[in-house]
Amino acid sequence: MNYEQAKELLEKYGQTQLLKYYDELNDSQKESLLKQISEIDFGLLNYIKDGDSHSEKGVITPLDDAVSIEDIEKNKERYTAIGVDAIKNGKVAALLLAGGMGTRLGSDQPKGMYNIGESGDLFIFEVLIHNLLDVVHQTGVWVPLYIMTSERNNDDTVNFFKEKNYFGYDPDYVEFFVQEMAPAATFDGKIYLEAKDRVSTSPNGNGGWFISFVKAGLCEKAKAQGVEYINIFAVDNVCQRIADPCFVGAMIDGGYCSASKVVSKKNPEEKVGVLCLEDGRPSIVEYYELTEDMRYETKDDGELAYKYGVILNYLFTIEALEKNLKNNLSVHVVKKKIPYLDENGNTVKPETENGYKFETLVLDMIHMMDNCLAYEVIREKEFAPIKNKTGVDSVETAKELLKLNGVKL
Ligand code: UTP
Repeated sequence: MNYEQAKELLEKYGQTQLLKYYDELNDSQKESLLKQISEIDFGLLNYIKDGDSHSEKGVITPLDDAVSIEDIEKNKERYTAIGVDAIKNGKVAALLLAGGMGTRLGSDQPKGMYNIGESGDLFIFEVLIHNLLDVVHQTGVWVPLYIMTSERNNDDTVNFFKEKNYFGYDPDYVEFFVQEMAPAATFDGKIYLEAKDRVSTSPNGNGGWFISFVKAGLCEKAKAQGVEYINIFAVDNVCQRIADPCFVGAMIDGGYCSASKVVSKKNPEEKVGVLCLEDGRPSIVEYYELTEDMRYETKDDGELAYKYGVILNYLFTIEALEKNLKNNLSVHVVKKKIPYLDENGNTVKPETENGYKFETLVLDMIHMMDNCLAYEVIREKEFAPIKNKTGVDSVETAKELLKLNGVKL
């Protein structure tokens, strides 16, 4: 794209502010800026006026069915044997979502490089790899591991894994791929510049994983290798079990095309997305989407009707993903603090939210699935997300739980 074409395009969308500093740039900066402009998905800006498309929910009802901790305990051996068999036959892969910015944690590095060690180094990535290695030791085979990064953190992440010898994992079974970016805009829909030669962009949300996985050629590769099930997991839950044979076995045993690990909510007000039905199909609703009545509703046995919170650990069959993800995922318009260039061309890091980012979320994929198994895990054993430095869901709380589970920090 040349300057004239870029100008014409930006005029069409009312975004000529992106060329404000063009004349001050050198040739390679100009080229880079024009390329960025050519890659912008201007359609995303429509979601500002249309509102958050995820707010149009259908009729929400409680889940009919779930496998509870007690059910799992009863069937543990059978489920585990089925899962181990699938893993041994190369049918199961794991996919780490590590493209996020981790802004709440406030580290400039990828979240997985955060060191939670006390007597020595112990990095978040390292803990996750150790968790997956448990399954490798249990089954005797390497589980293919895909790691999604973003252009912001890819080099740091890849170099870190190399430098640390993949924490003992076999590099032949690890593949990195980079997710796509989306622009960030003012509340009026004007895309920000973050530098004179750089459009403000951020990773397009963790729902972007499947499209990027396909584009990177990894979906075809996985299928060619015989992978049928993918376990999607977040970078920040250091206690979670990954490619958990019992979880895999329960899903296969029940003939489900997707499954979600869930925990019982601590209380009706807990701010966690819950697994439920929406127009009879599986769905996840955010805590603020449940009405007051629904939050406190109970079933005949006295348990909360909307009891199961999700922990961002899902299983999908590749077949169901390919079949059902033809429709676009909802775009969430999220208020964020976005660094920008002020009138004088100086970078400002705002203290308060000053604009929107656009994200798709993996949790919306559940509603596109024909069914989803709710698989309950013990919160104290499997849920220790690190979102903040201190307080709720923090480095502090996660360390406590790791220690309780016998991990030496
Ligand atoms: P979060 O919702 O906690 O977002 O991501 P975040 O960007 O890591 O953190 P904050 O909100 O800025 O503090 C949940 C999971 O989804 C991944 C994250 O890396 C984490 O594993 N994620 C998030 C992506 O892979 N890509 C994204 O665009 C966003």
